[in-house]
Order: sequence, then structure tokens, then C-alpha cells
Amino acid sequence: PASTAEPRPGDLTVGGVALAEIAGRFDTPVYVLDESEVRRRCQNYRDAFPEAEIHYAAKAFLCRAMAHWVEEEGLGLDVCSAGELELAVAAGFPPDKIVLHGNAKTPHDLKKALSYGVGRIVIDSPSEIARIAAAVGPDGHQKVMVRVVPGISAGGHEKIRTGTEDQKFGLSISDGYAQHAIARILDQPQLELTGLHCHLGSQITDVKPYLSAVRRMVGLMARLREQHGVVLEELDLGGGHGVAYRPGEQTMDLTRLARKVRAELTEACAAAGLTVPRLIIEPGRAIAGPAGIALYRVVSVKHTGGHTFVAVDGGMSDNPRPALYGVRYAPRLVGRRGSTTLAPVTVVGRHCEAGDVVAADVQLPDDVGAGDLIAVPVAGAYHLSMASGYNLVGRPPVAAVRDGRARLLVRRESLEDIRSRDVGL
Ligand code: LLP
Repeated sequence: PASTAEPRPGDLTVGGVALAEIAGRFDTPVYVLDESEVRRRCQNYRDAFPEAEIHYAAKAFLCRAMAHWVEEEGLGLDVCSAGELELAVAAGFPPDKIVLHGNAKTPHDLKKALSYGVGRIVIDSPSEIARIAAAVGPDGHQKVMVRVVPGISAGGHEKIRTGTEDQKFGLSISDGYAQHAIARILDQPQLELTGLHCHLGSQITDVKPYLSAVRRMVGLMARLREQHGVVLEELDLGGGHGVAYRPGEQTMDLTRLARKVRAELTEACAAAGLTVPRLIIEPGRAIAGPAGIALYRVVSVKHTGGHTFVAVDGGMSDNPRPALYGVRYAPRLVGRRGSTTLAPVTVVGRHCEAGDVVAADVQLPDDVGAGDLIAVPVAGAYHLSMASGYNLVGRPPVAAVRDGRARLLVRRESLEDIRSRDVGL
């Protein structure tokens, strides 16, 4: 039923539903996803890049409803495992609008992808060429792209930079490795090379690395035409568009990115005498991230060693990002109007290690206490998708809100789920 309760003072309402009501109905911790916000973000991409194919990067967050929404909004999908593919297909996502990625696609991934008939497979290593060709069979046909390393450093953290030569993804251009692999792909009659792919990294807010990538990729396309007489139709620039995790942080300006990329692509292609390829982009975080909130309940507040620790009922098992990348969040008290006096606190999780921090050194009302609700915004991307089973606390559910209604999309991992996977004694 639609929410009828009047939000209390201090309540934060998302999609027309008060977070306190969601906590009451689904318990905490819970991820709350704003469907209209996801759709609006898809539309923003379509408006900014009307000429491009936009593939949502499922690794940011995927459930069947999410796949359904992005499909309805006219996007394709980037998956990197049989699991992501399985959910997408179960949601009715057209397989020909799905691209399979991965630096270590297993035989199972490839088998599933070929049996569902995915639109394209992005080749990431030379050994894949023969494997895919063999799996496709002599009479088969599969569109492929090749992931190249443009040699560009960009991204919010060293662990999520993928455009440089010192990391595992793709084939480098500078030592001719990519060119060599491409020549081998062109020799396989059942593989149709439609274009080049690169993904610079993630949480990028500057336009310039994308423009450098356009120049290098077009340069490679021109050389391939000269050497092999092959004209590639597609250029996939990957994802990586940054969002703000805290108020005031920079985000990627999509309109500007689109305008600059378009101009650079047109100019570079004109200079090389190439027809402008069809552009593909793969945003994940910028579609799902800001549309999600993680909602926790405070379990205890402790003043020790000169610090105030506000401990909540989740933590690094549902959000490893502070521990992994040192990301800082801006949690807020919701469900009631707190004291107007703020106090410096560190919000920590429930897990058995000191690095289990949700948000270090933030300001919360000084009367925050057990039972209070804490909302952590921008939790829609790389939270549930990176959630672990640490301490067997069970992964949180996902509730979607829209037009004053909340519904469950993914249920909480229960004690029964945990017990039933354990099949030996
Ligand atoms: N395309 C490819 C091939 C990718 O590997 C990725 C992300 C994307 C697109 C989407 O990137 P996005 O637009 O979401 O930045 N766990 C990290 C992020 C890892 C991103 C991995 N690849 C985090 O929590 O920040």
C-alpha cells in the first residue's frame, strides 16, 4: 500500500516513502533504491548521448528489476559473469543487447554467453581468441570487440585505474600486443570484430582522459585500416563517470563530456579520413550510485580513547568501500529531529576488525543513540554488488521506492540461507 503515515520531523523521504517507515517494514540494514532516480539517470544519459549506445554496467548493482528498468529506458547491458548474465536474462533482457566482459572468462561464462546469444563478447586476452572461436564452432558467428589499454592514468583510486599498462585488463597498444591479437581475430572467420573497447577506470570527474582515449583509439583504428584494410564500426569508451559521495564533491558533467567527446571524435576521424564510429559508453556508478541509500540502525554509542564511536548494525560486509579505497561518506541521522548541536563521531560497523569504518570523523547530532536510524547516501553502486559474507551476518535486502510505495526487490540473506549452504559435517 502507498504510504499514508505523515513523515515525522527529521524523517528523510525517498520516492515518497519515509526512511523510518522502510526500516520498520524491512528492518535494517537495508538498501533503499529510488526507481525514479535510476530512470531519470538513464534518461540523462540518453539526452546527453543521443547518438550513442549506452550499456549499463551491471557490476555496479544488478537485480531483475534494475535490469528491467534500464532496458525500458533504452539501455543495453554490460555483464562480466554467468551470474550477472543469468539475472539479466531472467529479467527478460534481450541477449543481443548484452555485452560480456571479463579478463578471465571461465568456460562456464562463455558457454552461457554463447547459449543465450549475447550481442558481443569483449576479448581481453589472446588466449581467448581460439577458445571463443572453438566454442562458436566452424559454422557459428559471434560479434566481438577487443579491449585495449590506451596507456592513460585516470580514476578515483589506484585500485580502480584500468587505463594504464601496469594492470591486468586489456591488451596494450604501445608494445603492439593489441595489434597482434587483432590480426589473429581477423583471421577467424566465425568472429566478427565490430570495434575497439577501452575502460580508463572509475570515479573519473575530468573530461580530458576521455579525449586522450578518443585520440589514441582513433589512431589505432586508422592504423588497422592501413595494415589490414579493416574498418571498425564501433568505439566503446567504457564507463567511469564520477559521482559525489559527499555534498560539494565534484561529479562528471555528462553534457560537457558528451559535447567534448563528440567534437574530439569528429575531429580525430576527419583527420584520419575515417567515418565516425558508433559510440558506446558503459556507465555503472553514475546510474545506480546516487539512487541508493544504505539505512542502518545504531546499536551502541561509545566514548573511548578520545573518540565517539557510533556503531551500526552493518558495516564492511555491506560496504567495503571505505576499507578498500578510503572513500568518505556523509551519513545522517534520520527518523527524528536530533539535537542541533553537532558532535564529531566515527560511524563504525559491527564486524570484527578495526578497519570496519562506515564514516570516519563526521558530524552528527550529539544526542545520537542506540535505536536511531543512520542513512548513508550514494549507496546504490558497488555496495550490495561487493557485499561479502563476513561474520555470517547475512547480506541486506534491497527495497525499491516509487510514488510513495516501497517494495522488496531482493530479500535479506537469512540464517536459514546461511545454514542451508553448509552441506557437510
Ligand atoms: N565498463 C567496464 C569494462 C568496467 O570494468 C566498469 C567498472 C564499468 C564499465 C563501469 O564503471 P563505472 O561507470 O561504474 O565507474 N568497486 C569499485 C569500482 C570498480 C569498477 C570496476 N569496473 C568502487 O567501488 O569504486
